[in-house]
Amino acid sequence: IREEAMNEISKMKSIDELEEMRIKVLGKKGELTQVLREMGKLSKEERPVVGEIANDVRKDIETELNSTRERLKNEMKKKKLEKERIDISMPGKEIILGHRHPLMATIEALENIFLSMGFSVVYGPEIETVQNNFDALNSPENHPSRDLSDTFYITEDMLLRTHTSPVQIRVMKEKKPPLRIVSAGRTFRFDDVDDTHSPMFHQLEGLVIDENVTMANLMDTIDTFIKELFGEDMETRFRPHYFPFTEPSAEVDVSCVKCKGKGCEACNGTGWSMELLGCGMVDPKVLENCGIDPEKYSGFAFGLGIDRIAMVKYGINDIRLLFENDMRFLNQF
Ligand code: PHE
Repeated sequence: IREEAMNEISKMKSIDELEEMRIKVLGKKGELTQVLREMGKLSKEERPVVGEIANDVRKDIETELNSTRERLKNEMKKKKLEKERIDISMPGKEIILGHRHPLMATIEALENIFLSMGFSVVYGPEIETVQNNFDALNSPENHPSRDLSDTFYITEDMLLRTHTSPVQIRVMKEKKPPLRIVSAGRTFRFDDVDDTHSPMFHQLEGLVIDENVTMANLMDTIDTFIKELFGEDMETRFRPHYFPFTEPSAEVDVSCVKCKGKGCEACNGTGWSMELLGCGMVDPKVLENCGIDPEKYSGFAFGLGIDRIAMVKYGINDIRLLFENDMRFLNQF
């Protein structure tokens, strides 16, 4: 029994196997236990002799089992440590941090400038009523911008707003003057896509209503804003224009950011970045439409193209780059 057991123990590869082995030899029904049980059949003289031998065998096997168990335990530990070893010389995983989209950074910069000038930031829905988008803004029934080929209609009365000006209507209907708000967001027009046009673009609307607000206040506000955004040496130029909801109206050009008005390739030699902004004194009829007394209050409004401003600010020459989410482009900012 001893020899066989010793031989088998030396071949054991796991602690489980070892335990099976122990039960087989030393357990209740084990081979050695069997021997001890049958001692009763032996004579008085034989009993102590066989008993001693059996006890020796038991002790030897137990000792061998214990030492083998220890050895296997250590081997397993070693293997585990080997497997879990950490190579501290390996390069780490790169953590890629996201950042603001250039367009969102521009919106934030614009909002911050207007906040510093005492404006509040408000939001309006991208799906608007025809009433807010056109009618309340005095836009004539037959105005070409209402055409199905220019505007995304959802139903007869609902559309994707074609500008942020309906936010003016919402604010004037909901709140009493004095009002001083800006509102940035998406706008939609049925335009073919090219390097300066996209059916989805962004505007920022501004509205100021109070007693004694004049065109001079409008011009100074725009001028101050442009200098804050692009620098003190920037100039603005107001060209007469027409919008149904402002009178008088103007379009604003700004000195070319690249050449500061000297004339370069970017501005076709004119020295101006064109059509960044539309503005004017809120038409008294629009005030009336919103329940504001035009005898007591006056105000101005402006709408600027955020995409254009972002393009001028960052030197981007194709509006599509802003919406394609090409990482090679975005990673540059
Ligand atoms: N909503 C006009 C546009 O989209 C811009 C504008 C806004 C003009 C406010 C005057 C006053 O062209």
